[in-house]
Amino acid sequence: MLAELSPKLVVEVHHAAKLLAASSRICVLTGAGISAESGIPTFRDKQTGLWEQYRAEDLATCTAFARDPQLVWSWYQWRRQLVHNKMPNSAHYALAQWQQDTEVYKQHLTLITQNVDDLHEQAGSTATHLHGHLWRNRCSQCDVLYNSPLDTQSTGQSQRLNSIASDDDKLIKCTHCGGYMRPDIVWFGEVLPVQAWQTAESAAANCEVFISIGTSSLVYPAAGLAQLARQNGAKIIEINPNPTPNTVVDITLAEKAGIVMPLLLKQIDGLLQR
Ligand code: APR
Repeated sequence: MLAELSPKLVVEVHHAAKLLAASSRICVLTGAGISAESGIPTFRDKQTGLWEQYRAEDLATCTAFARDPQLVWSWYQWRRQLVHNKMPNSAHYALAQWQQDTEVYKQHLTLITQNVDDLHEQAGSTATHLHGHLWRNRCSQCDVLYNSPLDTQSTGQSQRLNSIASDDDKLIKCTHCGGYMRPDIVWFGEVLPVQAWQTAESAAANCEVFISIGTSSLVYPAAGLAQLARQNGAKIIEINPNPTPNTVVDITLAEKAGIVMPLLLKQIDGLLQR
């Protein structure tokens, strides 16, 4: 594996591992790029098929839903179908393993994600979701969560089945107020969930190392977490094969997360077990 990487990257991974092994409070922010190797297109990827003519930024808004709820609902049903059979990749698994190891290593790792998929949870992580959950629905008027008969039966997997079961694209009405159900996702221009944002701010402000993985760092307020961490003295590591506008990065690991994360974890393990 190491032989396939550039010498510069090998040095940087080692540098990052040393920094992380010496830190006790770590905050990780993930974005769509971490799920790209699982086959889920990122937001800035061009859309395909029926949806080629639309931009995600134009559909994921309250205004779009108010104007044409059917269009926006159908788009999310399509996205759910894109995602429903996708599995975590080696980056999700490495993060989950690390979260479990932190108890042994007396580290504390807070995982914050902008992703609405549940691949972190499927891999075994506990993650704070800043932008909501693809598999949940709530009323667009009274906010009540949609509770289907399948949801009440068992686990999160049933919520996935429920969402797919409604792939006839028919809008669902709220049994309380008659409003249309919408995905429980934070759309452009909407406020982030208070509890999730407090967790993220506190973890970023109090960490020694902040790691940004697979995010374009374009969408605020999430993109400001790295700056907050830096202002409070943290070192910043970025894992992304492409450059981003994040200007506070100390260590750039310019490679896919699925390649870097297992390698990084292996090196941290090696250093901490000595
Ligand atoms: N490993 C790491 N990074 C990757 C990989 C990979 N295998 N593949 C792509 N990337 C990077 C891209 O270079 C890009 O910088 O992932 C980033 C994905 O960027 P976006 O699509 O903008 O996703 P994200 O930053 O999560 O978007 C933020 O914007 O649309 C809203 O609410 C939505 O949560 C989303 C938010």
